[in-house]
Amino acid sequence: MKNVAVIGAGTMGNGIAHTFAQFGYNVSLIDVQFASLEKGLATIEKNLDRQVAKEKITEAQKTETLANISTYTDMEAGVKGVDLVVEAATENVDLKLQIFKNLCEVTPTSVILATNTSSISITKIAAVTDRPDKVIGMHFMNPVPVMKLVEIIRGYSTSDDVTNSIMDLSKKLSKNPVEVNDYPGFVANRILMPMINEAIYTLYEGVAGVDEIDQVMKLGMAHPMGPLQLADFIGLDVCLAILHVLHDGFGNPKYAPCPLLVNMVMAGKKGIKSGEGFYSWGHGTKDLVIADNFKK
Ligand code: CAA
Repeated sequence: MKNVAVIGAGTMGNGIAHTFAQFGYNVSLIDVQFASLEKGLATIEKNLDRQVAKEKITEAQKTETLANISTYTDMEAGVKGVDLVVEAATENVDLKLQIFKNLCEVTPTSVILATNTSSISITKIAAVTDRPDKVIGMHFMNPVPVMKLVEIIRGYSTSDDVTNSIMDLSKKLSKNPVEVNDYPGFVANRILMPMINEAIYTLYEGVAGVDEIDQVMKLGMAHPMGPLQLADFIGLDVCLAILHVLHDGFGNPKYAPCPLLVNMVMAGKKGIKSGEGFYSWGHGTKDLVIADNFKK
């Protein structure tokens, strides 16, 4: 595999494009909005500058990485000649099903169709395609250029050949792929989201404040970010959507989202992306400032 299309230039899409391009793949970055492509490319450039400053890559590697990326607003043009498509569009089931149907019209059946979904069923997505054996989950973690894990999710019909080639490909990106099966939340979010939800319940019930909860998990469990900071980083709307998938998928009340999380998302407080969540992010992401609602 040498030619890869990435659909969606948002946080995950631009990180995935960055990573493939850095390891020498020709990347077609596709988004419906030209402005999103420009923003995605600017983010890739900023993150490459960070890697140059930290002496992880050279200035020449930065230039090569950027040269490996072409941008498209037209899906058909973007997927021409690719061996693999990695879909990283908004986490919306109807949108993803439509994209996969469209992909079947514009790519030969030899092309592997991967999705970076964080919780939507791979089997459900595969069922709308003409090649369910070639549909697979390739779940990268944010920030993609830094995090070593790729959770590789086998749908009900995903073939051994496709799974093995995506495992090998992930290793070529200097990642550690881990193979899991297709059940709600897969593994990463089945474990991560109940922890985040429990942290929010702990705050909601007044057991401790934002700072205390995050300090306990950072200092006591050596997590790089506390669960509330991590929730702001992932996006509270994304956390809520994943909890709904777990709750609906298993029918177990232990996955019911905390009412505080539901309220915050309804109020538009989605974390870093909206400027406020458990913390206030108006000043940037360097310093942690507790949001007014949670100040003591
Ligand atoms: N691109 C490239 N490099 C980046 C980067 C990016 N977007 N973001 C950070 N870095 C690099 C920095 O240059 C730095 O490199 P060195 O180690 O060489 O110095 C390193 O990453 C650490 O960055 P910083 O020093 O700026 O900041 P930090 O030490 O606070 O680390 C962090 C930042 C890596 C994000 C760290 O806080 C962390 O690991 N947080 C937890 C992240 C996490 O849990 N991600 C998973 C979220 S869940 C998910 O993605 C899946 C889902 O379905 C919800």
